[in-house]
Amino acid sequence: MNLPEERVEWVYFEGLNVRVPGGVYKPAEDTFLLAENLHVNSSETVLDMGTGCGLLAILAAEKAERVFAVDISPYAARCASANARLNGVHDRIHVVCGDLFNPLRNGVKFDVIIFNAPYLPSERFRGRFKRGGWLELAWSGGEDGRGVIDRFILEAPRRLRRGGRILLLQSTLSDEEATMRRFRAAGLKVEIVAEKPLFFEKIVLLKAEKPV
Ligand SMILES: C[S@@+](CC[C@H](N)C(=O)[O-])C[C@H]1O[C@@H](n2cnc3c(N)ncnc32)[C@H](O)[C@@H]1O
Repeated sequence: MNLPEERVEWVYFEGLNVRVPGGVYKPAEDTFLLAENLHVNSSETVLDMGTGCGLLAILAAEKAERVFAVDISPYAARCASANARLNGVHDRIHVVCGDLFNPLRNGVKFDVIIFNAPYLPSERFRGRFKRGGWLELAWSGGEDGRGVIDRFILEAPRRLRRGGRILLLQSTLSDEEATMRRFRAAGLKVEIVAEKPLFFEKIVLLKAEKPV
């Protein structure tokens, strides 16, 4: 897939600067809603799934002991690494490229897993957003918006330490009730911790906790 490198933008958030080239998801309301509700402490290990330009991973690394960041796009992974260095936290962030948990060693577990997922139903939004390429992977959750979310839920609970938590951001268009049912079926306690109305939808932040 091609990388449209025609533009580079800078995003400033709470004292951090990140460079976002074309082809990498530019932090938006969903990123900021998750950022505002991201609380980690100094002893915790965090996984930022679908890190994009790395803003959330960098925020987590300001507090957490260690942060792993994964993205399926090699351009996003490279961008997140560069931004970690730019913000002086590269010694605490390990960025890897691949599909969901595949690039992580079996058995590695986290205290906190965050995921601003690709959550929009693809057919409905195809005309509104760029088609094809790495950017489509950033917003498109497949036909019903749940493709990546459901695959994530299949493995994420196993990757969580006891007492750990998942923060997953999605849209009401991709059925947040189904997400809550699936987390509960995996033995997690789940609640909506934040939400924000947008034009066609509400974005919701779900917290799923594993019992101690
Ligand atoms: C909505 S963007 C969020 C980016 C960034 N975390 C933020 O909040 O600004 C979703 C990100 O997930 C990545 N992604 C999509 N499918 C993925 C998969 N199967 N495995 C890992 N990352 C994926 C995309 O490349 C994109 O960077």
